[in-house]
Amino acid sequence: MKGVQRALWQWLDQRLHLEPLAEALWQNLRKVVPPHVNWLFTLGATLAALLAAQVGTGVLLMAYYKPSAAQAHHSIEHLSYEVPLGWFIRSLHAWGSHLIVGLALLHLIHVYVYGGYKKPRELTWVSGVLLLALLLGFGLSGYLLPWDQVAYWATVVVTQSADSVPLAGPWLRRFLIGADEVSDPTLGRFFVVHVILLPLGLLGLMGLHLLLVRWLGISPLGRADEPAPDSEALRQRGGHPFVPYHLLKDLAAVWVGLGVLCTLALLWPSPVGEPADPLVTPLGIKPDWYFLPPYQLLKYVPEAVGVLIPPLFFLLLLLLPFLDRSPERHPRGRSRAMAAGVLVAACLLLLGVLGHLSETTRTILGITYHFDILGWPSHAGGKAAP
Ligand code: HEM
Repeated sequence: MKGVQRALWQWLDQRLHLEPLAEALWQNLRKVVPPHVNWLFTLGATLAALLAAQVGTGVLLMAYYKPSAAQAHHSIEHLSYEVPLGWFIRSLHAWGSHLIVGLALLHLIHVYVYGGYKKPRELTWVSGVLLLALLLGFGLSGYLLPWDQVAYWATVVVTQSADSVPLAGPWLRRFLIGADEVSDPTLGRFFVVHVILLPLGLLGLMGLHLLLVRWLGISPLGRADEPAPDSEALRQRGGHPFVPYHLLKDLAAVWVGLGVLCTLALLWPSPVGEPADPLVTPLGIKPDWYFLPPYQLLKYVPEAVGVLIPPLFFLLLLLLPFLDRSPERHPRGRSRAMAAGVLVAACLLLLGVLGHLSETTRTILGITYHFDILGWPSHAGGKAAP
């Protein structure tokens, strides 16, 4: 077998002169990684693996899904009840979307805390923020595809807010949904965005992101204005080469990530909802959990202001490496950046929780509360029956 491999390699090398490329790749993979790199640094590799699985399950779903208002819901029923393992592939894809967005947010927080966005990794950060925007775009466009009541009305709620964008609002909403109301043309648009435009963008941006990560290596904890330590210096401080040490850690984390995904899909398969009915508005319709903070924000501030806050927030995130110019990377030397990060995370979390609770009735410690549209609780009757 080894002989065949060597002969094949020689055949390719004689034609394409691959030897220098293979040597450079090997040198890169043997680079020593800074000693502070722990299990949290496996989040990126786990994300990449889950995204690959997501593309795989998405391609399988496409073999059965029909992107028209008349057939979409029926094709989901057929896939879930009749196609062998169709329910499992669908559930893997649905749970995959939640895990991917969750891991991307954790990865962002981790990079922020370790100052990984500072010079010379500004472009790695920018490509990461754009990747996050694409992931949210996948979430928004994919939510509508089952064409059930929740999918339909959540899309109505989210796209209605586009109406409030100053000056271009009504035009923007029509551009998004391709008609006056969410209907067949909307499904066609969202499908094309979900299965063609976003995957193309994802492929390009992920290639760039991973190339930059390998090219620049993981950032050391020292100041960004000091020269980066070379492999020998890192080895003396207790660092290990990426191959095999960190690669094995990455593979172990990927294994756990895929295991969690399969377990979730097996234990909680995706339900099939009621078919979309534009004439019947169900109560308490909400977008996916990661859109809850901007959705809830719109209830507290005038819509024209509320719709501008999320894009502005993204712009600030994109420009972060150029706004925060302090060379310090260690979280202990960046108390103001840490405080700002905690404040933003707390606001997003609070809005998310209020959004989740709003318009529901819950029994907490034996007392029943009704949470109004703003998420404020009011006493809804005495103690619940035990
Ligand atoms: C599709 C999603 C993404 C994938 C597949 C991905 C993949 C990776 C991988 C494999 C690493 C190296 C190991 C690690 O630090 O975990 C990394 C590092 C990095 N990522 Fe991501 N990432 C993604 C999204 C993001 C996002 C949303 C951001 C931030 C907005 C980001 C910013 C960075 C930065 C700045 C580094 C360098 C960190 C350092 O050198 O200390 N990435 N990414």
